Amino acid sequence: MIVVTGGAGFIGANFVLDWLAQSDEALINLDKLTYAGNRENLASLAGDPRHVFVHGDIGDSRLVGSLLAQYQPRAIVNFAAESHVDRSIHGPEDFIQTNIVGSFHLLESTRAYWNTLPDEARQRFRFLHVSTDEVYGSLASDEPAFSETHAYAPNSPYSASKAASDHLVRAYHHTYALPVLTTNCSNNYGPYHFPEKLIPLMIVNALAGKPLPVYGDGQQIRDWLYVGDHCSAIRRVLEAGRPGETYNVGGRNEQPNLDIVHTVCRLLDELRPRTDGLPYRAQITSVADRPGHDRRYAIDARKIERELGWMPAETFATGILKTVNWYLDNQQWVQRVQSGAYRDWVEKNYGERRP
Ligand code: NAD
Ligand code: DAU
Repeated sequence: MIVVTGGAGFIGANFVLDWLAQSDEALINLDKLTYAGNRENLASLAGDPRHVFVHGDIGDSRLVGSLLAQYQPRAIVNFAAESHVDRSIHGPEDFIQTNIVGSFHLLESTRAYWNTLPDEARQRFRFLHVSTDEVYGSLASDEPAFSETHAYAPNSPYSASKAASDHLVRAYHHTYALPVLTTNCSNNYGPYHFPEKLIPLMIVNALAGKPLPVYGDGQQIRDWLYVGDHCSAIRRVLEAGRPGETYNVGGRNEQPNLDIVHTVCRLLDELRPRTDGLPYRAQITSVADRPGHDRRYAIDARKIERELGWMPAETFATGILKTVNWYLDNQQWVQRVQSGAYRDWVEKNYGERRP
């Protein structure tokens, strides 16, 4: 079996659902259930003996040590993290705690467990660390996309904390020979995306008749990948990646934020037109920019394509249509994640940006 951390969050839940749809290998899902973790994402697995959910912290060495000893996994896939850049700007401490200190404790627990394994199991074991393209910093418009050898230059507390964890993972391979793999992926979108991030926020706000807040000039570029394609990349790296290597994952789909928002508006105009006949783009509002806002990310995914034969299955056109339809079909999920804590966050982040 394998252990997944953070499997109640956006990408983790998609990974868990995909994994169990494609394999009978059991999975232990360790998640702290922060504001971003939601067991409802995994409701379709209720009663499935292949999925064991454990409520806990990756930094809890006693808990993690006993889980590893009990279940003897062949791999650990580490999704657990604080993941929202704006939250890291308002309060970096949780990011340091989970992304750096938590990852360190998880690596230590893993190393202790791995050292107990017989030779063959030690060789087969993998620790896969899920990271981000943001560790590379920001690109100018004429610079080539990030390759795996691009220098690290993180600019936000979030990306700095992810960069630190990547370095720890790398060091555990170099120093202790722990068989690690790291993936650095671009922006994901798809089902179960918490509506604090750009695409789900725009869908949810549009349907609620609220402003669609675009930071600054809206010309910041991200490289969007459908979440199912990120999951297939992780599975492939776990299966065939070379220990100690990093693999960049991206969708070859660079777009300015404003274009993304216009696409979402256009799809909603077709699928759920406003009752007053106006287009959703009328709700777009320019608001104060994110401090230290990275201008452009772009991933050069040639290594994973060439070495592991991975390719995304979705285009942006097919992925965004699936995504908008998912939100239209899952309005109850949307209502339930918009708790009091969510509303407090919206007020904190957007209250001070009012034009
Ligand atoms: P998310 O915020 O939706 O989910 C994070 C999950 O981790 C939640 O379920 C949360 O409860 C859990 N968690 C947080 N702290 C924990 C702890 N200390 N112990 C155990 N569980 C904990 O995040 P996401 O968007 O699904 O991202 C998952 C991973 O992928 C992160 O490591 C992120 O850096 C990385 N990543 C995200 C994107 C993206 O576009 N969302 C792109 C590239 C990489
Ligand atoms: O690149 C990978 C990263 O993508 C992941 O590592 C992060 O976990 C993930 O959150 C995401 O980070 P971004 O900061 O790029 O995503 P976000 O959805 O927060 O913002 C996308 C872009 O949209 C960014 O340029 C900021 C802008 N934005 C965002 C919000 C929430 C707006 O203009 N308005 C908004 O309200």
